[in-house]
Amino acid sequence: MEILKTKIALETFVSPLKAIGKKVALVPTMGALHNGHISLIDLAKQSADIIICSIFVNPTQFTDLKDLEKYPRPIEHDLEMLKNAGCDAVFMPSVDEMYPKEEHWHIDLGPAEFLLEGEFRKGHYQGVTQIVKKLFDAVKPDIAMFGQKDFQQVLMIKNMVAHFHLPIQIVTCPIIRESDGLAMSSRNIHLLSLDRENSLVLSKALKFVVAHFNDNSLRKLEESAKALFELIDGVELDYFTIANGDNLQPAQSKNEHHLVALVAAKVGKTRLIDNMIIK
Ligand code: PAJ
Repeated sequence: MEILKTKIALETFVSPLKAIGKKVALVPTMGALHNGHISLIDLAKQSADIIICSIFVNPTQFTDLKDLEKYPRPIEHDLEMLKNAGCDAVFMPSVDEMYPKEEHWHIDLGPAEFLLEGEFRKGHYQGVTQIVKKLFDAVKPDIAMFGQKDFQQVLMIKNMVAHFHLPIQIVTCPIIRESDGLAMSSRNIHLLSLDRENSLVLSKALKFVVAHFNDNSLRKLEESAKALFELIDGVELDYFTIANGDNLQPAQSKNEHHLVALVAAKVGKTRLIDNMIIK
């Protein structure tokens, strides 16, 4: 597995492969890899010849400096996991390599930018799309894999790709969960024992609305799901909503084509997000 730290090294690796017609997949990550990330590599292998994973903790998407500082960076372990998964190359640039000078980035991501995560993390999706555009420019992949775990992120990235007319296929990959239902996340290592137990309320509340979708109105379902959070000390709900999966507006009718339940909550000091597609 190649370890590439500069855009020039990346270009030298990828250009000859593209020249002979190899299909290149990019899997962008911030490291602290788990089986959710590896599932993206596995799916990439099914649709491309060359798999490049990027590891870069992107400062511009963090709204909380402490969160950035304490973001886990177990790089040796990450490289081992990627090698075992059959990844061809890892792009792990420095901050200076990706942001050599101060720059202003702002693009129109549509109204959904300001909902849900966008409301709680101001400017987050500008930072996400800024780095993903830079990674796309550096790798020029044919296809890029993202997790449904970050449902709104995929929507924002698709909007960014449309904005720049990029010829890159965006694939959404299913959420990988622990056996008890907790969605895998790099932040889960911060969950101490009671928090770990309490964290199950997110997936339980989502499962509840999926299972009872036909029994009650949308707003009643949301209320019942929210009530589950009130029962637990040490868990603070940011939002629980049943939304239109195309624009993230609160769903108005059960007949809408694409419905998804989305949740964010602080469990102890750790903020978790999760979602389930209803239809
Ligand atoms: P990160 O949180 O490291 O996630 C990298 C990719 O893995 C994202 O597409 C995310 O949705 C996916 N992922 C995370 N947990 C998952 C799970 N349990 N099952 C399936 N996929 C999962 O998301 C980011 O990094 C960054 O915002 C990034 C896109 C790299 C830009 O900096």
